[in-house]
Amino acid sequence: MLDVVRKFPEQVKEALGIEFNFEIEREKIKNVVVAGMGGSAISADILSHFSSIPFHVVRDYKPPSFIDEDTLFIAVSYSGNTEETISCFSLAREKCPHVVITTGGKLGSMAKNVIKIPSGMQPRAAIAYLLFPMAKLLSSLGIMDLDFDEVVYLMESNRDRIEEIAKEVGGGIKGIPVIYGYGVMGSIARRWRQQFNENAKMHAFDFVLPECNHNELEAWEGGGDNITCIFLREKEEMDRIKARFDFMREEYEEKARVIELYAPGKSRFSRAIYHMHVGDMASIYMAERRGIDAEPVNLIMQLKNVLSQHSRSSS
Ligand code: F6R
Repeated sequence: MLDVVRKFPEQVKEALGIEFNFEIEREKIKNVVVAGMGGSAISADILSHFSSIPFHVVRDYKPPSFIDEDTLFIAVSYSGNTEETISCFSLAREKCPHVVITTGGKLGSMAKNVIKIPSGMQPRAAIAYLLFPMAKLLSSLGIMDLDFDEVVYLMESNRDRIEEIAKEVGGGIKGIPVIYGYGVMGSIARRWRQQFNENAKMHAFDFVLPECNHNELEAWEGGGDNITCIFLREKEEMDRIKARFDFMREEYEEKARVIELYAPGKSRFSRAIYHMHVGDMASIYMAERRGIDAEPVNLIMQLKNVLSQHSRSSS
């Protein structure tokens, strides 16, 4: 896993080079809906923060009822065999212009417009291929405006630094990691939580500001035993968010360990990708520290097998 994740800067470049030979009529698109699960869906969560039109991520068997011919429907599934995503796509494909991002599988054979990405990885480790072709497609349609060169530059020029920080964070976590972020960093906090769950096989939680200041904050009255807080911050964050984080740090530090991380980079997108990559690496170092093989996701696979037996016997 570490070797695959270390190649992230190269993967981003390769992913940006993936061509697609279909056309979507931009004038008709009024909203974007992306269906996916787990390591595939998180790519859309992150991108949703940069969209100039309504953007909805669905992790379910059914697409939202508002989809129509003005919706660009994207189904993203690394394997192409995830039942929720297939179900959503089946219900949406007659109604909307659509694109599928996958390595193949059933989904790959169901769609006309396919962005085919390289196979042989764990979905969560293939984030470059799940995120950047979607970002490129949406940018080519004028739905977002992202600086890809800056991301590549930032990732390439900070390799050692990212690895150092990740090692330090992975080594510094005591108990349960609880990750906090605002805006797109809220989605990155979710990614961190998922990576601690799947790579380090441990519980973790994520919270988004300012919402968590209206509920989770109060939990600290009851203490913070066995928790390490990770704040995903940006120097450029707005004053109100800075004030909230500062208040949280003072309160939480009395009861738990608080790690504050700042991302370099000119654009919010680059900073988000930077924080994401630090978290990906940190979760693998955490797995190493726990003596755990980060790669297999045995329980997820077991459940998928049980469900596929179930549908075979009931059909
Ligand atoms: C496994 C992983 C999972 C999968 C999820 C959906 O590495 O990240 O969260 O992404 O089970 O499967 P796919 O991505 O194949 O649709």
